[in-house]
Amino acid sequence: MENQIIALRNEIAEKLQTVSDLQELDGLRVAYLGKKGSITTLLKGMKDLSPEEKKSFGAKVNELKEETTEKIEKKMEELKEAEIQKELSEMPLFDITTPADTDRGSYHPITLVQRQCETIFKSMGFAVIDYPEIVTDYECFEALNIPKHHPARDMQDTYYLTNGQLLKSHTSAAQNAILKKYGKNLKENGVPIKAIFPGRCFRNEATDACHENTFFQMEGVMVDKDISISNLIYFMKTMLSEVFRKDIKVRLRPGFFPFVEPGFELDISCLICGGEGCPSCKQSGWLELCPCGMIHPNVLREGGIDPDEYTGFAFGLGLTRLAMMKYGVKDIRNLNSGSLKALSQFTDDE
Ligand code: PHE
Repeated sequence: MENQIIALRNEIAEKLQTVSDLQELDGLRVAYLGKKGSITTLLKGMKDLSPEEKKSFGAKVNELKEETTEKIEKKMEELKEAEIQKELSEMPLFDITTPADTDRGSYHPITLVQRQCETIFKSMGFAVIDYPEIVTDYECFEALNIPKHHPARDMQDTYYLTNGQLLKSHTSAAQNAILKKYGKNLKENGVPIKAIFPGRCFRNEATDACHENTFFQMEGVMVDKDISISNLIYFMKTMLSEVFRKDIKVRLRPGFFPFVEPGFELDISCLICGGEGCPSCKQSGWLELCPCGMIHPNVLREGGIDPDEYTGFAFGLGLTRLAMMKYGVKDIRNLNSGSLKALSQFTDDE
């Protein structure tokens, strides 16, 4: 039996010499120390020995067991270290502290105006909320007083997924969720709902200098007791004068959206041609920048808010248009072009 132990010890030493990866090593561990492993079997075989023999043989097998466990652990450390060294040696030599010798990246002009608008609205107590790009028909239309087959849907044809969901055609798709989420605090604690939600929107659109199938909007809602059109105009004017850092000529004209009543189009005088007419403003001298209005009672009700008690306004600022005006981008298609030459020239002037 003593010989068995010696033979096993030699065998283990030999195998450990040649083992070359962690998986193989684990195989050895199982083969010797596992439930049916050779050392375990030796221990189990002791039951037929005399008490004396059991004592001395048992001690020796246990010694072998401990020794083997230790050796396997040591080998495991060695193999792990070798693996790390191998990975390191295969990595390209790269010093992250070296300054870049190529052009530095820059923010996209839309990101810049979005951040400016967020700062302005945050300073006026608005929460900034992120919302998914894939939404349901309910969120995008039904909850906004646009039932199936309503002609207003024609203006907002978008991309549909096979499961019936769609890429949101306007940021208004978040209105219902926001009314529901913050309505509780409004009703229980009298805290007004004040939120903006910037986001990417999609439409099935023939593209030209001022239309794209992918663009950005920034929706805003405010709901409280006694909110009126004056509040809406105040917030819009404050935001525009902050963004452009100068007085901007605006005009408000009636506009129809099923989810607001009354609804308006807020236009700004085209900053590219100075109001004379150019392709960017469809030769009109004016640019639709911010459709807006008082939230329709049906929309409030659908969001769980009693329209007899509360009123609110909503606006859908065209962030893409705003970026074009602010930075003098003549063709909207440049913004999605991925052309660094066109896009890297803008900086945050805050
Ligand atoms: N969601 C509308 C659109 O994209 C704009 C809008 C928003 C109008 C909020 C009124 C109020 O066409």
